Amino acid sequence: MNEQDVPGGLRLNTLSGWNQTAADWHRFLRNSPRGCFVMEHDGKVVGTATTLHYESRFAWIGMVLVDPEFRKQGIGTELLRKGIEYLDSSGISTIKLDATPQGKPIYTKLGFVEEYEIERWILKRPAGTSSTARGSTRASLSETQREQVFRLDEELFGADRSFLLRTLYEEAPEFATAAWEEELLQGYAFGRHGVFADQFGPWMARTRTAAEKLLQEFLATSSRETLIVDGMKSNSLALALLRGCGFTPSRPLTRMVRGPNAYPGKPESFCAILGPEFG
Ligand SMILES: CC(C)(COP(=O)(O)OP(=O)(O)OC[C@H]1O[C@@H](n2cnc3c(N)ncnc32)[C@H](O)[C@@H]1OP(=O)(O)O)[C@@H](O)C(=O)NCCC(=O)NCCS
Repeated sequence: MNEQDVPGGLRLNTLSGWNQTAADWHRFLRNSPRGCFVMEHDGKVVGTATTLHYESRFAWIGMVLVDPEFRKQGIGTELLRKGIEYLDSSGISTIKLDATPQGKPIYTKLGFVEEYEIERWILKRPAGTSSTARGSTRASLSETQREQVFRLDEELFGADRSFLLRTLYEEAPEFATAAWEEELLQGYAFGRHGVFADQFGPWMARTRTAAEKLLQEFLATSSRETLIVDGMKSNSLALALLRGCGFTPSRPLTRMVRGPNAYPGKPESFCAILGPEFG
């Protein structure tokens, strides 16, 4: 895949009702210029798959999408094989991904096993709610605070992904928040603008107060009518907060891993992931 294929990728994710924008596709290509793949038919992109390295600890496969008219012909499996082959040749022995129910069978056949469950939650706000909510007066995170957040995220996620978090901050600084209690960093969150919704995540909190504060900041800052969050199914506090704010579950996702899971991070600390395409 190269930059010229971005409109083709965007067409596929929009056809599947996914939320990614051109900025997300560019994020993949900038960080993994040789690790993203397309299948073309008569010059048209009909399938995609992306890979990303998190140091040499593990890699992520995402954006496995096939044009509905070209499904069940082996294209999804072929793109996945291509991604795995590329990562194997780069010396990465652990590959992770977050599978939709439709994608899960092809991953299982290629040796991925389940790690834990994630659930997408969605909030549809009545028109007008969002614009009145706009205008949080919170100061944006300083560089020193961001560095603190990146170091904590590294410990909890299992690898340094500050290269991604920095781009989220640059594109939507208004969604980057953190919660300190008695000078201790107790939580942080980022967000991004998507095609049909603003997405909240990663959302990490060590206390209920921090979790709630971060979620409320996001709700007050976003001006969109539709909001989405990929919540950790095991985090009952996070799910209760989402339910309390009117979010409802929309689809399950399964985190899967292939190879040794030597850097699992601390998933129990997360309320929500960044997104299935990034982890
Ligand atoms: C999931 C997705 C990528 C699969 O793409 P695909 O190209 O249809 O995948 P494949 O053709 O390799 O495999 C799909 C099925 O078709 C079967 N198949 C493959 N070639 C076939 C052929 N020539 N004839 C009949 N069946 C075939 C496969 O065995 C597989 O069967 P299974 O679902 O029972 O395991 C596609 O459905 C999609 O884009 N879905 C929406 C987005 C999504 O959920 N992506 C996954 C993200 S985790």
